[in-house]
Amino acid sequence: MIDRINRLASEIEAIKAGSLEEVEHLRLKYLSKKGLVSALFDDFKGVAPEMKREVGQLLNDLKNKTHQKIDELKSGFEAVGGASAVTLDLTRPANNAQPGSRHPLSIVRNQIIDIFARIGFTVADGPEIEDDWHNFSALNFTADHPARDMQDTFFIATNPDILLRTHTSSVQIRTMEATKPPIRMIFPGRVFRNEAISARAHCIFHQVEGLYIDKHVSFADLKQTLMYFAKEMFGENTKIRLRPSYFPFTEPSGEMDVSCLICGGEGCNICKYTGWVEILGCGMVDPNALDNCGIDSQIYTGFAFGMGIERITMLKYQIKDLRLFYENDVRFLRQFAGAF
Ligand code: DAH
Repeated sequence: MIDRINRLASEIEAIKAGSLEEVEHLRLKYLSKKGLVSALFDDFKGVAPEMKREVGQLLNDLKNKTHQKIDELKSGFEAVGGASAVTLDLTRPANNAQPGSRHPLSIVRNQIIDIFARIGFTVADGPEIEDDWHNFSALNFTADHPARDMQDTFFIATNPDILLRTHTSSVQIRTMEATKPPIRMIFPGRVFRNEAISARAHCIFHQVEGLYIDKHVSFADLKQTLMYFAKEMFGENTKIRLRPSYFPFTEPSGEMDVSCLICGGEGCNICKYTGWVEILGCGMVDPNALDNCGIDSQIYTGFAFGMGIERITMLKYQIKDLRLFYENDVRFLRQFAGAF
C-alpha cells in the first residue's frame, strides 16, 4: 500500500498539462470519486489497524499534494490569460472571411466620375450643410422666388440661413467663387429634401453636378458632352433628347431624356410607354450666376447639368424601389459583388 502511495505521489509530482482542459482531465483522473487517489482511500479500509495511522497520514499528504498540484497547474494557465491564450491553435483554418462589396450607388458614381474624367473633368466636393447664398441666392433664386418651393428644404430651426443642401448646384457656386476659368469639373455628393419616403423618393439622395466654364462655350458643347455621357453610360445605341425646362441658374434650361434602355424606345412600363426616360437637368449657366461669383459674364459662358445617381442606378440595374439603397439588406447588396 505504501509503495502504491509513493508511486502515485511521484507520478503526480511529475505531471504536466498543455491546457486548462488537460488540467481538468488530470483532476478527474486523480481526484474524482472514481479517481486514482480516491481508489486508494477505498483500499484504506483493508489496511491492518497498526498501519492505519502511518498509511492514513501518507494518504492525506498525497491528497493534499494532488490538490495543490492541480491548483498550481490551473493558476499557471489563468495567469497567462485563460484558456484562449494557451489553446490558441494557429494551425486551424481561418474563419471564412466574407468580404463586402461596393454599394451600387458608389459603383455608378465611380462610373460617372470615370466617364467624365476621360474628357478632362476633375472632381470636387462641398459641404452638406450650406447657407442660403450657396444653395439658393447665388444660383439666382431671388428671395421669395417661387422656384425655392421646387425643393422642399430642411432648414436649421434656429437659423433659417443654414440648411441641408437640396442639390449639388451649391458646389458650382463654391467652385466659381474660388477658381478662375477655364473650369471643367463634376461634383458628386449627398443632398437632402423634405420628401415623403416612397419607392420613388427619399429625404436623402445623391447627385452629380457638372460645370464647364470657358470662353465660347456653347449649347452645342453641352449637347455633345451629354450625348457622349449617355452613350458611355447606357450603351452606344442610346439616343438623347432635350426638352425645354426651367431652372433659375441656367438660361436656356433643358431636361434630358435617354431612349429607354429596357425596350430600346418601343415603349414599356419602365418608360411608361413613351420610349424615353428622363435622367438630368441642364442648361447654359445664367449670366447672373457667373457675375454673382465674380466671373465676367461678358467674357465667359458655360454649361451645367445635374443628375440623380439613384435614378441612373435604378435604370441601369432595373431596381424598382429606391428604399432598397438605404436598407443595408445584404441580400440586395451582395448582388453587386465584384463590380467597381
Ligand atoms: N439642381 C437641379 C436639381 O436638383 C438639377 C440641375 C439642373 C443642375 C440644371 C444643373 C442644371 O446644374 O444646369 O433639380
